[in-house]
Amino acid sequence: MHIDAPFELILFGGLGDLSQRKLLPAMYMLFCDGRLPETGKIVAITRRELVREDFLQQVRQALRQHLEARYFDEGSWNQFVEYLICHTIDLGDPGTFVQLEQALNKQCQNRVFYLATGSDLYTDICAGLHGSGLIHEHAKVVLEKPIGHDFESATQINNAVAEYFAESQIYRIDHYLGKETVQNLMVLRFANSLFEHQWNHKYIDHIQITISESLGVEKRAGFYDHVGAMRDMFQNHLLQLLCITAMEPPASLESDAIRDEKVKVLRSLKAITGEAINDKVVRGQYDAGVADGKPVPRYRDEPDVAVKSQTETFVAVKVEIENWRWAGVPFYLRTGKRLAERACEIVVHFKEIPHSIFPLQHKNTMANKLVFRLQPDEGIRLMLCEKKIGPGMSVRPMNLSLNPADHKKTRVPEAYERLLFDVLVSNATLFLRDDELMEAWRWVDPILTFWNDLEQRPEPYTSGSWGPAAATLLLAKDGRLWDENS
Ligand code: BG6
Repeated sequence: MHIDAPFELILFGGLGDLSQRKLLPAMYMLFCDGRLPETGKIVAITRRELVREDFLQQVRQALRQHLEARYFDEGSWNQFVEYLICHTIDLGDPGTFVQLEQALNKQCQNRVFYLATGSDLYTDICAGLHGSGLIHEHAKVVLEKPIGHDFESATQINNAVAEYFAESQIYRIDHYLGKETVQNLMVLRFANSLFEHQWNHKYIDHIQITISESLGVEKRAGFYDHVGAMRDMFQNHLLQLLCITAMEPPASLESDAIRDEKVKVLRSLKAITGEAINDKVVRGQYDAGVADGKPVPRYRDEPDVAVKSQTETFVAVKVEIENWRWAGVPFYLRTGKRLAERACEIVVHFKEIPHSIFPLQHKNTMANKLVFRLQPDEGIRLMLCEKKIGPGMSVRPMNLSLNPADHKKTRVPEAYERLLFDVLVSNATLFLRDDELMEAWRWVDPILTFWNDLEQRPEPYTSGSWGPAAATLLLAKDGRLWDENS
C-alpha cells in the first residue's frame, strides 16, 4: 500500500530519544519501500534553535546508528532530506506556533501532530496548536504512552486534548500492537477454527506473557525513575497483549469492533486491591550483575537515579479475567529491565492430557504449548509431542514453526513503520480508544497507590537473572513454572 496525497508529519520531541531511535528511521524505511508520496513534510520540533545542516547531520547519524547498515544508502538519504524540516517552538511563546503555520501548507489535507514528549506537555502543545489555527478538521494527533501517571492525571489530559480534537482524530499509540506477531496472533485466532475452539478454560491451563529486556535504564533515568515498569510497560504494552490474547472474536476488522472487544477484557479484569496485592503482584529493582557478558551497576547507582529510589524495574502479576471464557485460567504477566535476555513471548499452556499411556516424562515437556514470539526472531511455534525414533515408545517434544521471516524472505517491518503508516492513512484499528486507556489506569491505580504508601525498596534481583525470587514463587504457589526460555 502506498500513500498518494501529500502529508505533513509534525514531530514534537523531534530530536528526542524516540524520534531518533524509532520514528525517523521508520519514516525513512517507509520512504525506501516507496510507500510515501512525492510531496510531504516531516517537521521536527525542537526546543533549541538548530541550523539546517546540524539538524540533518543529527538525523543522518540517528539513521546510521539505528538502522541496519544494509538499509542506509546515500542515494535514498539525499532524496529523504527533501522531506525534512526543523522548527523551534517555545511553548511559552505563541509566536513560535504562528511561524510553524507559515512553514506548513494550508491546503494539505493530511496533517499529523505526533506528540513524542512527556504527556505533561500535551495540553500546552494542543492549546498552542489551536491558538495558531493549526488544527483543522483533517488534522490528527498521535499521543505516546504513558498518558498521565494515574487515572486522575490521564483523565485530565484526555479531557484537555478532547477540547481540541475529536476522538476520531486522536491516535493513542502502543507500539507493541504494531509488531507483526501480534497481528499474526489475531489472524491465527480468527482465521483458523482449529485454535479458536480450544481458546477457553476447558482446554487452556494458563497463559504467560513476558516482555524481558537485557538493557538497563540507559540514558532515560530522568524519565524512568518517575515512571517505573508498571507505568512504562505493564499498564500499556502488557495489558494490550493480554487484551489481544483474551478478547472475544470481533464482528469485523473495523477499529471500533476490535476496540469494543479489548475494552470488555479490561472491564473483566479481577481487581487486585489491599492484601491481594502482596499475594498476586511482585515488584523488583535490579542490583549489580552481568548483562550481555559485561558487569553492570545496580539501578540505584545508575546516573540520574535517586540513591534511595523505590522505582520498580520489574513487575510480575497474576491476572484473572472474570468472564465465561477465562474463568479459572490465570494469566501470568511479567516485564523487567536487566533480565537474562531480551525477549517477548506469549505462551499458551494447554491442559495436560487426562491420562498418559506413555512412559513418564518431565511434566513440563509433556504439556502442549503455543508460543507467540514477538521478538527477537518473531514467529509462532506449536510445541507438541512426537515419538522418539527407535525402539520403545519414548515421547519427546517437537516444534511446528511458522516464522514469517523464514517463510517469505522479506524484511519484517518495525512496529513504528506499520503504525505511522496507519496514522497517515487514518486507520485507527491498532490504536487505543479513550475508554481502553481509562480502564487500564483504573485497574492499575490501586496497585500504584499501595506501593506508594509502602515506602519500601522493591525486592532486589541480580542483573542478568530472571527477576526476584518472589516472581518464581508467584507461580510455584500454583504449582507452575515460568517458561524462562521456551
Ligand atoms: C517502550 C518503553 O515503550 O518500550 C521502554 O518506554 C522499552 O522502556 C521499550 O525499552 C521496549 O520496546 P521494544 O519494542 O524494544 O521491545
